[in-house]
Amino acid sequence: MTLDFQALPKAEVHIHLEGCLDLDEVVALAQEAGVPLPRPRAELLHFSGLSDFLDFLDWTCSLYRTPDQVAAAAYAFSRRMSASGALYADVIVNPTHWPHWRRDLGGFIGALDAGFCAAELDGLPPVGLCVSLLRQQSAEEAIELVDLLAALRHPRVVALSVDGNEKFAGRTGPRFAEAFRRAGAAGLKRTVHAGESSGPEGVRDALDYLGADRIDHGVRAIEDDDLVARLADRQIPLGVCPTSNLTLGLYARLEEHPIERLRKAGVPVSVNTDDPELLEIDLPKEYARCAAAFDWSAETCRNVAATSIRACFAGDEAKTRMLAKVATW
Ligand code: ADE
Ligand code: ZN
Repeated sequence: MTLDFQALPKAEVHIHLEGCLDLDEVVALAQEAGVPLPRPRAELLHFSGLSDFLDFLDWTCSLYRTPDQVAAAAYAFSRRMSASGALYADVIVNPTHWPHWRRDLGGFIGALDAGFCAAELDGLPPVGLCVSLLRQQSAEEAIELVDLLAALRHPRVVALSVDGNEKFAGRTGPRFAEAFRRAGAAGLKRTVHAGESSGPEGVRDALDYLGADRIDHGVRAIEDDDLVARLADRQIPLGVCPTSNLTLGLYARLEEHPIERLRKAGVPVSVNTDDPELLEIDLPKEYARCAAAFDWSAETCRNVAATSIRACFAGDEAKTRMLAKVATW
């Protein structure tokens, strides 16, 4: 039986705009601006690990200087979502990667919103914006960002996020607790990268200190049975990105990836791409790879897609409409 994963109605809930910028366009922008490539074109996507990968994001995003360039990147993101058959996406954007916009959050969100609005008018899927802190930021910087978001109250912004490398930052749950508390009080959802560059302790801190509604990755929770039981009891969704975890060195083979053990333990898991342009992957192929590796039936694929929709930060009515479509696949 061949399954059509492009046609499977689903949401993408763990994807970074920084990891979706078209590489040919990035190279063209660098040439236009007279900025040298960090390494030869053919080796641009050779990453030695997460740190090297995050440094590359700093470089690519530094080339986006005008509102039109940012809006075009947002529009292209929506086109990518449409091509993958996602009905909705929550996109993570981390202002620390975008040096020309760090001091103009309102202008940055406005430019992104212009691109997403134009895309929706053209029939492309709706997108919610998760504005992200970097793990290395201070408590004060985190609170400043959240207070700005709370003052802006931009309808495009659905969540506060935190990403980056936990290995470098150490344990930062307590450091960001107040910022995440304020985000919750301002009506924002909370999504937290943990259990990728941290072990189960990072996932526990995401729950205990940051009030996470959803966890990005979270896969290393598998190393702690009590934590797995807690995630299942509380039905905390994990936005899992299997190929990203393989490419960035967490697991050697997909068959060793814990997504299936987490799913079987009752943890709500969805399949996502993280940084598809840089990892050279797409969402339908990620579903296909998982289905092949773990022998998923059509019913299991439908359940995982339904989980992605329940886990997304769209409104309840939109979710009900999307869930009804999954049943017809
Ligand atoms: N930013 C973009 N991709 C990321 C990842 N896999 N982990 C942490 N931060 C990220
Ligand atoms: Zn991520």
